[in-house]
Amino acid sequence: MTGRPDTAGDLRPALTVADFAERARSRMEPAVWDFVEGGAGEERTLAANLRAFDRVRLRPRVLTGAGVPSLATTVLGRRWAAPLAVAPMAYHTLMHPEGETATARAAGDLGVPLVVSTFAGRPFEEIAAAAQAPLWLQVYCFRDRETTRRLVERAERAGFEALVLTVDAPRLGRRLRDERNGFRLPRGITPANLPVGDYSSPAEHGRRGLDPGMDWSVPAWLRSVSRLPVLVKGVLTAEDAVRARAAGADGIVVSNHGGRQLDGAPATLDVLAEIAAAVGGHTPLLLDGGVRRGSDVLAALALGADAVLVGRPVLHGLAAGGRDGVAGVLRLFTDGLADAMALTGTATVADAGPALLRTPPVPP
Ligand code: FNR
Repeated sequence: MTGRPDTAGDLRPALTVADFAERARSRMEPAVWDFVEGGAGEERTLAANLRAFDRVRLRPRVLTGAGVPSLATTVLGRRWAAPLAVAPMAYHTLMHPEGETATARAAGDLGVPLVVSTFAGRPFEEIAAAAQAPLWLQVYCFRDRETTRRLVERAERAGFEALVLTVDAPRLGRRLRDERNGFRLPRGITPANLPVGDYSSPAEHGRRGLDPGMDWSVPAWLRSVSRLPVLVKGVLTAEDAVRARAAGADGIVVSNHGGRQLDGAPATLDVLAEIAAAVGGHTPLLLDGGVRRGSDVLAALALGADAVLVGRPVLHGLAAGGRDGVAGVLRLFTDGLADAMALTGTATVADAGPALLRTPPVPP
């Protein structure tokens, strides 16, 4: 077991994601906490993601008659109960023995999708059996393309609906917390959908496994081995967004991998508008990195995102309370988004636009 006995005994309601984080931390080994929380290098990009949202100020509008807002939206032809989904993250089993299966149940409770990592700790078939909302597969491009192909085939057979190709990881960023801790996965934590092998050091496996030469032929290759739509995750410039669209991407995820890849890359919220100007309206545009409250979701929508992915807070919910913990975290986002929409007179997701934001934002 990686978790500690429940010593929290805290019956106060968790009202922010920070409340869930605090509870999660009290149950986790410090090195596992660092693996989850940490970013690359000096964690400047990790901090920038949060700061970018902190600088946003929304413009309240009054007497709009907008009524109770509708959070539902449609992405790639499927209805989502709210414009958010769970970001792909490795090894939910580090947080809770039921891992991604518990997360899938909670996402289904809220009617929002789950993007399952290549490094999921539970089998795709088990996750799919628990899911009530769309499942997408996040795909790493391995040197051994056959391993990637088999992974995709297995997910497609299990009923997954889209592929999210992570394009910002021809190698893993240096996670200094993990280096200092000599981090290795606890015994029993393994990727359930990859061939048997030694995955105990994520850094080492990344060096051996990831294809350092991946290029724009990869999305096309992925399309050739699967009928599923392909999104690319990890775009931070308008040039690459245009390139992705030209390569036939069915969607783009503006992401810096939660600050875990290039330290010094911009905050995702800061590049969203330029990317939306280049490809928005034609290509579904998602954003992740630093989304911590419902009003952050509205800010991202205002700047051109169609939806957001939520990362670390979901793992905190899972560690704090399994399925119910994740559902609690997701509810913070949907409730907070409904509040922010109501108080800005935003009746539907499609009504969100730049007029919701005070510009320029609060200085850094
Ligand atoms: C990740 N992320 C990630 N991304 C990916 O494409 N494949 C993966 O396997 C993982 N694994 C992973 C593990 C952990 C512990 C974390 C924290 C993150 C990145 C993830 O999809 C997403 O881009 C960020 O987590 C979003 O930022 P926030 O919400 O965590 O700030």
